[in-house]
Amino acid sequence: MGIVLKGGMIITASDSYKADIYIEGEKIQAIGNDFTSDEIIDVSGCYIFPGAIDCHTHFALETMGTITADDFATGTKAAIIGGTTAIIDYATQYKGESLLTALDKQFKKAVNCYCDFGFHMGITDWNESTGYEMERLMILGVTSFKLYMAYKNSLQVDDGVIYQALKKSKDISGLVTVHCENGDIINELVKEAISEKHLFPIYHAKTRPDIVEKEAISRVLTISELTGASIYIVHLSTNMGLESIIDAKRRGVNVFVETCPQYLLLDDSLYFSEGEKYIMSPPLRKIEDNIALWKGLSNNLIDTVATDHCSFNYNGQKNCDHNFSKIPNGAPGVEHRLALMYTYGVMKNRITLNQLVSYLSTNPAKIFGLFPNKGTIAVGSDADIVVYDPNVKNVISAKNQNQNVDYTPYEGFEKMGLVKYTFLRGRMIVKDEQLVENEPLGKYIYRKPFKGGM
Ligand code: URP
Ligand code: ZN
Ligand code: ZN
Repeated sequence: MGIVLKGGMIITASDSYKADIYIEGEKIQAIGNDFTSDEIIDVSGCYIFPGAIDCHTHFALETMGTITADDFATGTKAAIIGGTTAIIDYATQYKGESLLTALDKQFKKAVNCYCDFGFHMGITDWNESTGYEMERLMILGVTSFKLYMAYKNSLQVDDGVIYQALKKSKDISGLVTVHCENGDIINELVKEAISEKHLFPIYHAKTRPDIVEKEAISRVLTISELTGASIYIVHLSTNMGLESIIDAKRRGVNVFVETCPQYLLLDDSLYFSEGEKYIMSPPLRKIEDNIALWKGLSNNLIDTVATDHCSFNYNGQKNCDHNFSKIPNGAPGVEHRLALMYTYGVMKNRITLNQLVSYLSTNPAKIFGLFPNKGTIAVGSDADIVVYDPNVKNVISAKNQNQNVDYTPYEGFEKMGLVKYTFLRGRMIVKDEQLVENEPLGKYIYRKPFKGGM
């Protein structure tokens, strides 16, 4: 006998309707009415969402001489408590290393996962065997790649590598994702700021102005247009960048766009008080950029909302150096994405419930080869289900979070709704935002090749 979820309002990317769900084993077996079972859970008054998918996290990332506060165990635990049932993290090739070695290392780190997980592969060092290795990765379920146009002298690649990787990914039905900021210019601006003794956190933002994002976006979209390859822009933060994307879409470029809650809800005024907490790349922008990105979501010009979760403690990691350029880049968010987007998106009428599901679940599933197993509520899909009670009010605070980090950028933000239950492939893992299954049951996901998107 399976489990029946009775009386909830099912929300998919396209529909909202009242029906019961019958779960048996790992799958949704039926959707309808009048199912019988020993285990009937009353979910009336609640929304039933497909498990959220965070397609941009960095757990156990070693960078700038330190390691992120969240590893795969703590990060995926926080994720599932917040309603995220799958994450896609980044394996990264370091110079001189093969892609397969980089993947192997990341697999070794990805232990004790509480939600399902997959990997993108960051390519930083192109050579004659890289194309062949990309083919091998496709077979291993790593069907998307990442290129950095920033982080000069470490992760940054040049336009030739972007061109090669795009051509290859088009050939093998992979998808290239890109961090778009002009790293050469940033490097010069940082040197200038340091020589003028401008070391406060606000100079992180000043040395990475919006135009360097816009320049990189328009350049990469030109290369994408030249090759005919589809492309995915990660963590869009600016209105200028969005305008370039709209322009490229008009020219027929098949571009997918991600933004993150921090670029919708936070702005650069935060750099003046404990500003180290907000040192992330791209940096926080202006309120006008927040507004433009919300508008982009409302008009379906942006496809996904991920977190870029990359957590470092404020005490001992972020606040150690009084030089903005020495502070590890990144901020936490994996736990709070669904609640933030519901509270500040749906409740403020900026996006609909169906758009919420599209951006947090269905679109990432379609773009990154998980659909229809994941990303929807349908017969035959994995029973990755979030029961969301919209009537419970709370406040986000580091004091009650599960992320293994000593702050949250959303301290004091109102939170409408509670993750009443999270099911992962048919197993109840979370009840009332508490873990009820202590065994980490997350599995590696072999993702399918890219099929053109939505
Ligand atoms: O500051 C950030 N975002 N750190 C993580 C790496 C990246 O650029 O996505
Ligand atoms: Zn990035
Ligand atoms: Zn990132």
